[in-house]
Amino acid sequence: MNADPSSLAKSQPTKCPSEHPAYAPLQQVRSALATQLVGLDKLVDRLLVALLTGGHVLIEGPPGVAKTRTINRFAQLLDIQFVRIQATPDLLPADITGTDMFTQQSGQFNFLPGPLFHHIVLVDEVNRAPPKVQSALLEAMGEQQITTGGVTRALEEPFLVAATQNPIEHEGTYPLPEAQLDRFMFFVNLELPSVEHERQILDQVLSESGDLSQRCATTALTDRQTILQARQAVQHIFLSEAVRDYIVRLVGATRGYGAGGQVSTAISQAASPRASINLAQASQAAAWLDGRDFVAPEDIATLAPDILCGRIALDYRARAAGTSTRQVINELLEATPRV
Ligand SMILES: Nc1ncnc2c1ncn2[C@@H]1O[C@H](COP(=O)(O)OP(=O)(O)O)[C@@H](O)[C@H]1O
Ligand SMILES: [Mg+2]
Repeated sequence: MNADPSSLAKSQPTKCPSEHPAYAPLQQVRSALATQLVGLDKLVDRLLVALLTGGHVLIEGPPGVAKTRTINRFAQLLDIQFVRIQATPDLLPADITGTDMFTQQSGQFNFLPGPLFHHIVLVDEVNRAPPKVQSALLEAMGEQQITTGGVTRALEEPFLVAATQNPIEHEGTYPLPEAQLDRFMFFVNLELPSVEHERQILDQVLSESGDLSQRCATTALTDRQTILQARQAVQHIFLSEAVRDYIVRLVGATRGYGAGGQVSTAISQAASPRASINLAQASQAAAWLDGRDFVAPEDIATLAPDILCGRIALDYRARAAGTSTRQVINELLEATPRV
């Protein structure tokens, strides 16, 4: 009998992740990216977790720190549809969603799908897109569907939006509204590299520029079917009652409950239930990628800063005192007991 691997994963939830047919290919993607990107392992892990859970990633960092390169390389290794949208102030919602076009042959309007109908969508400089475009993006990210001209169309899985923005620029930008930020699973901040890393980057890029094949022709290591199988397996990773309680304690701490009482006075907007859900799902994927069939409290503590960061707003006094959101989250993590 020919068993479908996805049903196998379903019927054997306790099977060790490393024995799953999708495990090796995804680890290969991870290590291939580690050789092409210097010091960006954390970003790569966040992208893999988002891919395995239906999450989206917002990458913030100055120009030239390989934001675009990371997403490009990631998508090339996966053999799924990939598109890059350069956000500009004159972008229209139809430019990303698609639109009805009149075709002379058929004499009627047919829907021409826009770039959002891809599996991985890189939205470069997302805060340069006008609000209407951002809200079209929001529907796609939140509901995995697109409505144009009164017709709603579902987006195929996996659907991962990786958006980038430059934190320094403010002129001519439209900061993402809070409702939009909550749609991202992860907020990753990239910084300028250390001197040591800079030297490795230089060597890496110089060695590639002499070898055109290395620069352009990355062969894919996995495909859509494998990714979907891995997603199934991730959903079976064990989340104990104790870990669930820890998630809720941590998110509750941003609202001033329990241990967060003192620290949370700096917070003017606390994390929503979407934060707890994202923490739970992301920790399952992180544990699976780590070869474990259960989530540990450490998974939650490791992921929490990048999940909570964009969802919490500090009040004006904390901001005036120069406190950062990440500082506050670290204090909450220290104050909240893990078990
Ligand atoms: N950490 C890094 N690892 C590998 N290459 C890097 C790294 N940081 C910068 N680069 C190189 O710097 C250049 C700029 O990268 P790019 O992805 O266009 O930056 P960004 O999108 O952040 O502006 C590319 O040639 C890239 O290869
Ligand atoms: Mg770029």
